[in-house]
Amino acid sequence: MKHVDIIEVMTKEEYVGREVTVCGWVRTARDSKTMAFIELNDGTSLKHIQLVVDKETFGKADEMSNFTKLGSSLKVVGTVVPSAVAQDGGVEINVSDIELLGPCPEDYPLQKKRTNLETLRTMPHLRVRTNTFNAVFRVRSVLAAAIHEYFQDRHYVYVNTPLITGSDCEGAGEMFKVTTQSFEDAAKYKTADEYYADDFFGKSAGLSVSGQLEGEVAAMAFGKIYTFGPSFRAENSNTTRHVAEFWHVEPEVAFAELPDIIEMAEDMIKYITKAVMERCPAELDFFEKFFEKGLREKLTNVIESDFEVLDYTKAIEILEKADADFKYPVSWGCDLQTEHERYITEEVFKKPVFVTNYPKEIKSFYMKQNPDGKTVAATDLLVPGIGEIIGCSEREADYDKLLEAMNVRGMNLDDYNDYIDLRKFGSVPHSGFGLGFERMLMYVTGVQNIRDVILFPRTVGSIR
Ligand code: 4AD
Repeated sequence: MKHVDIIEVMTKEEYVGREVTVCGWVRTARDSKTMAFIELNDGTSLKHIQLVVDKETFGKADEMSNFTKLGSSLKVVGTVVPSAVAQDGGVEINVSDIELLGPCPEDYPLQKKRTNLETLRTMPHLRVRTNTFNAVFRVRSVLAAAIHEYFQDRHYVYVNTPLITGSDCEGAGEMFKVTTQSFEDAAKYKTADEYYADDFFGKSAGLSVSGQLEGEVAAMAFGKIYTFGPSFRAENSNTTRHVAEFWHVEPEVAFAELPDIIEMAEDMIKYITKAVMERCPAELDFFEKFFEKGLREKLTNVIESDFEVLDYTKAIEILEKADADFKYPVSWGCDLQTEHERYITEEVFKKPVFVTNYPKEIKSFYMKQNPDGKTVAATDLLVPGIGEIIGCSEREADYDKLLEAMNVRGMNLDDYNDYIDLRKFGSVPHSGFGLGFERMLMYVTGVQNIRDVILFPRTVGSIR
């Protein structure tokens, strides 16, 4: 269907005075005796274009009530003219013809008044047509492109790690099972091993919680790699920042120690934040107005300030002295809860904070053990409003120490043979991190619930 994107018509002067064909969905409409005004949106911009219909000269005036129904899809021919009211050089279209592509009846749920986000979650297939989701998904797209750009421009190889895996990367038992065995089959077996031996892969398999283990394999050949794909977590966390399927950005860098990877993570966050500020001005205006007052100032601060690097032990001291009523008590050795993370980054530092050197007991087996014997070279990046957005560490590159950490945790070494081999054949210091893409998107938009920055959120007890 030959037509022009509405964003082109609205932003390029060359269209003024010319006849164009545009397509889109009706967002609002006013129909009077002599004139009709329709706001059309085709998804290429946050702003709608105004269609002006002079009913006295328009050939299809008797069909007007079909063209003005919210949600209807139209193909429109008309001349682009400077807007009669807009002061900002905006344009509108004087309509000569309209074709109704798809009618939309009165029970269309998105009527004029703003529908709240919770109600919109009950209609994921339609909520994308609202201004909020138009803005969220354009920023999402720009953010994804900026992430690729950042790594591509710096010699990183983009690799795609498997989604089905036989080994649990985080060892937290949060893997969804992948099986072709049926419910009825289960009764035939006496042990789990027998059951899985007959399964598709001949052993138990699951959806990967992280591409890191395979990412390390690739980094030991290509030096610098990144993955950008979905990860799956069957954690029973019904919060505003957890989904069961999220998009995960995971760089892995050979010859990098913890300070090197921290430097890179900070640089990358600044780069992608700047990209959104430069490329999505209209969307940021929208989020500033409806979601987070001071959003631009916050993002400018991210770009301009040095992130804090804070030792875990110091963080615990700060929390122990804090004049705050925490639900979860704090002492050295405890894992930081969201309330603690937010206190540190929102109340104390008011900017992103890398908390480093966590106790080894609360972190994963693959993290490099520090000489103190108590902590590991790991860091989480905490940001105001959300808490953790990055989980990061230098990896244990020493064969014996890695094996010891796995044995202490009672892990089945056979599942990790390839991974362990990396420490045998030309092992090098290396580090990497995982950025939760949706959490980053929440941070740059000010949207407070992760369910509202992903197309079809998968959460405990909810899938469609
Ligand atoms: O801290 P995590 O568990 O780290 C890893 O998976 C490492 N293997 C990453 C690596 O070093 N390559 O997860 C990393 C990030 C978190 O900081 C968070 O932003 C995001 O992934 N994340 C989630 N996002 C949404 N919903 C969930 N259920 C998430 N779980 C983790």
